[in-house]
Amino acid sequence: MAKQFKRTLITTALPYANGPVHIGHLAGVYVPADIYARYLRLKGEEVLMIGGSDEHGVPITIKARNEGITPQEVVDRYHTIIKRSFEEFGISFDIYSRTTSAIHHKTASGFFKTLYDKGEFITKTSEQYYDEEAKQFLADRYITGKCPHCGNERAYGDQCESCGTSLSPLDLIQPHSTISGSIPVMKETTHWYLPLDKHEAWLRKWILEEHKEWKPNVYGQCKSWLDMGLQPRAVSRDLDWGVPVPLDDAKGKVLYVWFDAPIGYISNTIELLPDTWETWWKDPETKLVHFIGKDNIVFHCIVFPSMLKAEGSYILPENVPANEFLNLEGDKISTSRNWAVWLHEYLEEFPGKQDVLRYVLTANAPETKDNDFTWKDFQARNNNELVAIFGNFVNRALVLTQKYFDGKVPAQGIFNDYDQQTIAEFVAVKVEMERLLDNYRFRDALKEAMNLARIGNKYLADMEPWKLAKTDMERVSTIMNLSLQITANLAIAFEPFLPFTAEKLRDMIGLNLWEWNALGSFALLPEGHVLGEPALLFEKIEDDVVERQVQKLLDTRKANEAAAYKAPPVKEKVAFEDFMKMDIRVGTVLDCQRVPKADKLLQFRIADGLEERTILSGIAQYYPDPKALIGMQVCFMANFEPKKLRGIMSEGMILSAEDADGKLVIIQPSAKVTNGVEVK
Ligand code: 2FM
Ligand code: ZN
Repeated sequence: MAKQFKRTLITTALPYANGPVHIGHLAGVYVPADIYARYLRLKGEEVLMIGGSDEHGVPITIKARNEGITPQEVVDRYHTIIKRSFEEFGISFDIYSRTTSAIHHKTASGFFKTLYDKGEFITKTSEQYYDEEAKQFLADRYITGKCPHCGNERAYGDQCESCGTSLSPLDLIQPHSTISGSIPVMKETTHWYLPLDKHEAWLRKWILEEHKEWKPNVYGQCKSWLDMGLQPRAVSRDLDWGVPVPLDDAKGKVLYVWFDAPIGYISNTIELLPDTWETWWKDPETKLVHFIGKDNIVFHCIVFPSMLKAEGSYILPENVPANEFLNLEGDKISTSRNWAVWLHEYLEEFPGKQDVLRYVLTANAPETKDNDFTWKDFQARNNNELVAIFGNFVNRALVLTQKYFDGKVPAQGIFNDYDQQTIAEFVAVKVEMERLLDNYRFRDALKEAMNLARIGNKYLADMEPWKLAKTDMERVSTIMNLSLQITANLAIAFEPFLPFTAEKLRDMIGLNLWEWNALGSFALLPEGHVLGEPALLFEKIEDDVVERQVQKLLDTRKANEAAAYKAPPVKEKVAFEDFMKMDIRVGTVLDCQRVPKADKLLQFRIADGLEERTILSGIAQYYPDPKALIGMQVCFMANFEPKKLRGIMSEGMILSAEDADGKLVIIQPSAKVTNGVEVK
């Protein structure tokens, strides 16, 4: 029997305030957490959902330095954007605060001090790079040098972005500081460490024996960390941005961002409930659940629990339903490469369609493995599921009630076997949805909610009230009553997933009852109840709309390739006479066609000012419509040794430029010239 709790404390990973949030954030953490919170609230349970921005750490200081502003200005900017995006997507935080708040600094500082006083830390002295000009220790990211693996001259002290290898600053060849440009020296520094090795035994028992129900991806990652053996982890850094280490001998040192960030969950609870926060964090009858992405598993399952245990008065998480990653059109989402669908941009381009994105991200959530978001799938799920099933059913139910009963809920009458069977199916789905939601399987739960709409659609299609209306209005009354009760049920079932739509639907039918337990009741709308005007819940998304989005991504990819492009080194010098040996001329394309059984080749017929000539060129994949080239002027090498390809004699070579992505583009004169003239 699962343990019973009195209340649930939901925390959501605090996003770094060094960029806006994108669909990967929503799909991985915030939509699932929000579904869970809304579901529990609808059941009348006591719930808190805590969020906030993670505003410390080295990347924020680097961004500030690059932009010539302060770290505070960076986080102020992004905290505002992020908070707003979450509000607009209906993520129902009870509080969304930030780790630069005074309450957080006080809480994190106090937490460190308690552990320090209890003797829960060890100290270690090691040598680290120091910039003597700037008079500061250098975080790994602040050191650049040559990558020992690929020779990239601008590798960072933690990673080479060219070959992707993880590095330590000591691996870099000719390291230098990005702050002053000087060559850093090694200098001793002392830090506080949380000895995770001392926590290993209880962690093993707690996770591996007592939490076998955790998701396989979470359990597996924990097991592999534990099996490798835990090491002490530094909880401080030499940096001037963060929560200062609250000790006299710690000048210039702050808490490591991963030490202070999870304490942010506690600080934000204190900010919200200064008098009662301890009930949420210290009473064993509180169920603590951390919603995070897979890159945060070790911190939430091993490091933070060790901190809480070391402090001694806190509860531990009951579950950590971490998700895998969401990719975008086959590629990893990346802030630095701008490969993302940003929430604030989506809202500008798809106003009022928050629920469509929530739906698609949940239906395709990366719950058990990495998944891919594509605009085609977005369009298909909107058009074939939201519009064609859910929206269509609701619209038919309301429009038919308008037509036959003047927009009033008709009498229920007596249910026949088919009606009873439909009701029974509904109740079964409700039970299944609860089982899935209780086990963090939101994707399957949503599928079940959609099945309820499918049941409604099928019911109307099978009953055909529009035919019966000529002969048996009593039966039509029962059919429409039942259809409206189904509609009311949908408003409840979809609330956790599509809160904007559920509210719109609820307003449209004037449903006052607003609780999960009413799901499965077929007496939600009384006879004679007046319905509002039917309005469409969803609208079709046309091809050109998603094509524009795909084009936007293609443009981004192109820009990234151009930015990453390194022009090849200049070849050996040639003499003027050698250049003059090449006879390059201009001609006009008279005909152009694909060469059968040769994917790459196009066969050109060129007017060259003398007679005509045939030239083969390996550019077919870049010019899918060869006939479109007819009439175009091209440059070609006229004295190229003729060569037979696929049984065709090619007399020359068409000149093309090879773009950064390898694409070949034909070179043309910038104005029309006479065929056969020379290029010099
Ligand atoms: O990975 C991240 O984006 C971190 N900012 C998550 C922090 S979660 C918690 F510890 F605050
Ligand atoms: Zn490299």
